Amino acid sequence: MKKISLNVNGKDHILEVEEDMRLIDLLREKLGLTGVKEGCSEGECGACTVIMDGEVVNSCLVMAFQAEGSSILTIEGLGDEENIHPIQQAFIDVGAVQCGYCTPGMILAAKALLDKNPNPTEEEIREAISGNLCRCTGYNKIVQAIDRAKEVLR
Ligand code: FES
Ligand code: FES
Repeated sequence: MKKISLNVNGKDHILEVEEDMRLIDLLREKLGLTGVKEGCSEGECGACTVIMDGEVVNSCLVMAFQAEGSSILTIEGLGDEENIHPIQQAFIDVGAVQCGYCTPGMILAAKALLDKNPNPTEEEIREAISGNLCRCTGYNKIVQAIDRAKEVLR
């Protein structure tokens, strides 16, 4: 076991983690953050996307001990029903959520993009979500939602 300290969604934690525990398991099992979804488990689908120190990462590919000292944002830290974030609202307004499995990862990929580049082109939006697979929407509505969110956030 290793002891690590990290900040998740603005809260500091000190946790004991097994050496082979992945970050996705720490978030889902130790902290109950089930908005972090598991799809492929091999870095291909983006369902497990979180923001770690400002960068999107696939939490299925990061070991828990590698998160030592980091700040992590999951969908639960972005907003909730009472306090919805403009990107979440844009996804709802445009109809970019179908089954919803990809949605937390998509929204976090969008958040990381808009934090760095508040006025992305359509091409830049498509590039930013290129690591996130959606089986339902055909992507156009997701791109529209991020485009709408950028207008609201500017
Ligand atoms: S579950 Fe991590 S990329 Fe698919
Ligand atoms: S809404 Fe179903 S996978 Fe994207």
